[in-house]
Amino acid sequence: MKTTCCSLIDSALWGLVVYLLLHLPTIEMRVDDLEQPAPREQPPAASTQRPEPPHVQYLNLGKCFHMPRSECPPERGSCRKVGPVSVFCCDLDSARLKDALSDSITQNTTFLHVLNATIDELDLSQAVFRRLASMALTDGSIGKISGQFPKYSSIACLNISNNNLTTANLPSMHRPFAYLYNLTVLDASANNLTEFPLSLVRSNKKISVDLSRNKYLPCKHFQWALEANNSSLVTFLQYNQTFCALDLQFNWFKDVQIVQIDHLKKEKELNANCRKIKPLDSNCSCVFERLELLGDEVTRLVAVDCSQRHLKEMPTDLPPNTVKLNVSYNNITSLQAVGDDPTYEHLRQLFLDYNDVTNIIALEGTKFIDNFMVFSIGHNKLKTIHTYVLSNRFGTTGPVLSIAGNRIVCDCNAEKMIKPWLQENFKNIPDYKNLECQDNLGPVVDLIESKVCHTPRDWTDYIYYIIGLEVLVLVLLISKVSYDYWVFKTAGYLPWPANKMPRLPCDWLCE
Ligand SMILES: *[C@@H]1O[C@H](CO)[C@@H](O)[C@H](O)[C@H]1NC(C)=O
Ligand SMILES: *[C@@H]1O[C@H](CO)[C@@H](O)[C@H](O)[C@H]1NC(C)=O
Ligand SMILES: *[C@@H]1O[C@H](CO)[C@@H](O)[C@H](O)[C@H]1NC(C)=O
Ligand SMILES: *[C@@H]1O[C@H](CO)[C@@H](O)[C@H](O)[C@H]1NC(C)=O
Ligand SMILES: *[C@@H]1O[C@H](CO)[C@@H](O)[C@H](O)[C@H]1NC(C)=O
Ligand SMILES: *[C@@H]1O[C@H](CO)[C@@H](O)[C@H](O)[C@H]1NC(C)=O
Ligand SMILES: *[C@@H]1O[C@H](CO)[C@@H](O)[C@H](O)[C@H]1NC(C)=O
Ligand SMILES: *[C@@H]1O[C@H](CO)[C@@H](O)[C@H](O)[C@H]1NC(C)=O
Ligand SMILES: *[C@@H]1O[C@H](CO)[C@@H](O)[C@H](O)[C@H]1NC(C)=O
Ligand SMILES: *[C@@H]1O[C@H](CO)[C@@H](O)[C@H](O)[C@H]1NC(C)=O
Ligand SMILES: *[C@@H]1O[C@H](CO)[C@@H](O)[C@H](O)[C@H]1NC(C)=O
Ligand SMILES: *[C@@H]1O[C@H](CO)[C@@H](O)[C@H](O)[C@H]1NC(C)=O
Repeated sequence: MKTTCCSLIDSALWGLVVYLLLHLPTIEMRVDDLEQPAPREQPPAASTQRPEPPHVQYLNLGKCFHMPRSECPPERGSCRKVGPVSVFCCDLDSARLKDALSDSITQNTTFLHVLNATIDELDLSQAVFRRLASMALTDGSIGKISGQFPKYSSIACLNISNNNLTTANLPSMHRPFAYLYNLTVLDASANNLTEFPLSLVRSNKKISVDLSRNKYLPCKHFQWALEANNSSLVTFLQYNQTFCALDLQFNWFKDVQIVQIDHLKKEKELNANCRKIKPLDSNCSCVFERLELLGDEVTRLVAVDCSQRHLKEMPTDLPPNTVKLNVSYNNITSLQAVGDDPTYEHLRQLFLDYNDVTNIIALEGTKFIDNFMVFSIGHNKLKTIHTYVLSNRFGTTGPVLSIAGNRIVCDCNAEKMIKPWLQENFKNIPDYKNLECQDNLGPVVDLIESKVCHTPRDWTDYIYYIIGLEVLVLVLLISKVSYDYWVFKTAGYLPWPANKMPRLPCDWLCE
């Protein structure tokens, strides 16, 4: 009796243990679903007791458990144990995946590598993945990743490299990795991802990410990651092989350029330099406009936008390689800085519309005048155009000047100098017809000489009177001399005033 009773209790106890063991995962899940932190040490206690050194070593090296194809199990589409905690599978397809995994993965399994899984859908919430510390599904083809890891999943290394994954095939870039609090390595290289898993870098933990060989990840996302809070939190594995897609805004079309993420460091530098533009509160914005090969070095040319910043003078201390500056809609009166500030030396496009500039004399002999391609100074307070400042650059196609909206003082000088200059250089001054005169006198090119050049006309008229007068005086003089001669010949004396004249040496000669 006693023995049967005891054995009954024993078997009941064993049954309970087996039941608990089998249902532990689901119980935990339910606890997780209630948003209560699961007791972390509990489930992996048995497995993390003595993990074999060779595999733990992987994680310390920032590598997931990974086996070469030569180590594949002999039977195609199957798994094999590699030591007590690791499982390696090859060439699984959708049909084989679930069975093969549940056959070989035990409570103790913490390392998994599946090489070449050709599956339609990978459901991350499967219980088999729960205890894994390293999970790698590489070099296969995964149609879609769904579900999400259970909360407090112990995964430290996740490798989904080379699976032809696109961002669209992930449920949403934040969710699949949301609960991977212990994740330190994520390898999503060689896929076709178009979004950066930003949630990973927001968790304020150190993490290594390999996103190399994804061609169209936007640089903007990398930049956020690099600038987010603490850039030292994210380490890019295969840094040199990681590229991003840079949106470039050209004059009228958008282009995508693939650049090494190392370039983004320069972007950071640019932002720092942009904040140094004086006046310091100008809050200008700076962007890389395009790449140019200067010598054998790729230089990124910079465009600076200081428009509508209430500036009273030209900004100075521009970032290096600034080729384009927009300072329109300010209250700038002087262009002195263009010649004086050496950071203007590469400037080729200057947009200065809607300011209070009265003349362009300060630009004479500047590098800007030698180099400019666009100079837009419309709607300023130019009263005249000092054409000699610009003339050297015109005649060649290329440089464009925009001056509409200024009110020129339309005197005869304007008619004689500016009008012909506009007509001569119409190719370089597309809006030449819109340069207007003060006082609503109409466009400068329509000036009529007889209307604006009055004063010089009067003066030339006057000269004829003077000439007439001079001729009259001459005629009088000649008649007086003739009369004197006639009197001298007939009466023998010289009339006044000739008789009062002192004698000269030639007079004796005459006598
Ligand atoms: C992930 O898998 C790829 C492809 O097999 C491999 O080259 C890479 O080293 C692995 N990454 C990590 C972090 O283990
Ligand atoms: C990958 O697995 C599929 C079947 O699952 C197989 O047809 C294919 O040949 C495998 N690829 C390689 C490179 O072995
Ligand atoms: C798990 O590991 C423990 C000790 O390392 C061992 O006693 C147990 O048999 C293992 N369980 C399985 C299912 O391999
Ligand atoms: C996460 O890592 C810490 C230490 O690195 C460990 O104590 C904890 O058990 C891990 N959590 C899980 C769920 O594995
Ligand atoms: C990669 O995925 C695209 C669709 O996302 C599919 O058309 C293509 O066949 C896949 N390539 C491979 C090698 O599986
Ligand atoms: C994914 O990338 C591979 C090569 O990296 C390319 O052949 C394939 O067309 C891409 N698929 C999609 C859907 O972009
Ligand atoms: C930095 O991280 C902390 C904590 O994660 C967050 O509260 C703070 O807003 C972050 N700051 C910035 C500038 O992102
Ligand atoms: C960033 O993190 C490092 C250590 O991870 C720390 O020393 C540094 O102070 C942090 N910087 C900021 C700005 O939080
Ligand atoms: C890779 O990057 C390192 C710096 O992180 C640099 O020193 C090295 O020259 C680069 N290698 C190549 C081939 O660009
Ligand atoms: C600087 O400019 C940005 C937009 O260009 C604006 O959001 C920000 O408020 C400005 N900061 C100051 C201090 O004016
Ligand atoms: C310069 O800035 C003004 C005002 O922000 C804008 O309307 C104009 O399009 C800009 N010009 C160029 C060439 O970017
Ligand atoms: C700046 O210019 C605007 C028009 O562009 C004008 O309304 C404003 O009064 C000017 N401010 C100063 C301080 O001159």
